[in-house]
Amino acid sequence: MSNEWDEYAEKWDVDPSVETYAKKAFSELLENIDLNNLTVFDFGCGTGALTQLMSPEVKRIVAIDPSSEMIKHLDKKALNNVSSISDYLSKELVQNHPELKSKFDLIVASSVCSFLPDYEATLIVLKSLLKKGGVFVQWDWLSDEESTGMGLSDKRVKQAFVANGFVDIRVNCPFIMSSSKGDRPVLMAIGKNA
Ligand SMILES: C[S@@+](CC[C@H](N)C(=O)[O-])C[C@H]1O[C@@H](n2cnc3c(N)ncnc32)[C@H](O)[C@@H]1O
Repeated sequence: MSNEWDEYAEKWDVDPSVETYAKKAFSELLENIDLNNLTVFDFGCGTGALTQLMSPEVKRIVAIDPSSEMIKHLDKKALNNVSSISDYLSKELVQNHPELKSKFDLIVASSVCSFLPDYEATLIVLKSLLKKGGVFVQWDWLSDEESTGMGLSDKRVKQAFVANGFVDIRVNCPFIMSSSKGDRPVLMAIGKNA
């Protein structure tokens, strides 16, 4: 499966901001979740910047991305407890893919949800992949309500989590990414499948 992200794959791992973002997200994950022995679904894993950090800490990871070039770079890392899927997530894929037969303790989506054509609809499919008591965590550029640019507002994320029946919802802004274009806050949202 290929998509518009293919062209970024070659240089993704050598971009220092990708590594910084993944390390900051991972550090926040460790602050909030005990990763020991968890089964994890890494949604929109890219080349696996976050996957690689989680891999030694968890039982098993299924990592999915529609960009076959991104997945090619993840596969080259040969992480022993990671399986990859190069496809778009859909109800049909969940019903038919052998790696998606069992539900997960944790789903992570690092800098993915704001790029989705229908964030709210995707959240329904993601929740269907969580065990009871399982946790979903996402990180995205924070945008304000009026913004039409890249990112998600905390209001929209909270509404989507509530509408989907997540509980113990926490939405905050734990870190800022600095670049030549200025500082951008990153939203982190956590919700539990009741
Ligand atoms: C900004 S990158 C983040 C990659 C990785 N999570 C990381 O932190 O390095 C966004 C990723 O989302 C993936 N993506 C884009 N549209 C998607 C969709 N509809 N479903 C799942 N992933 C998608 C892209 O292929 C790309 O790898």
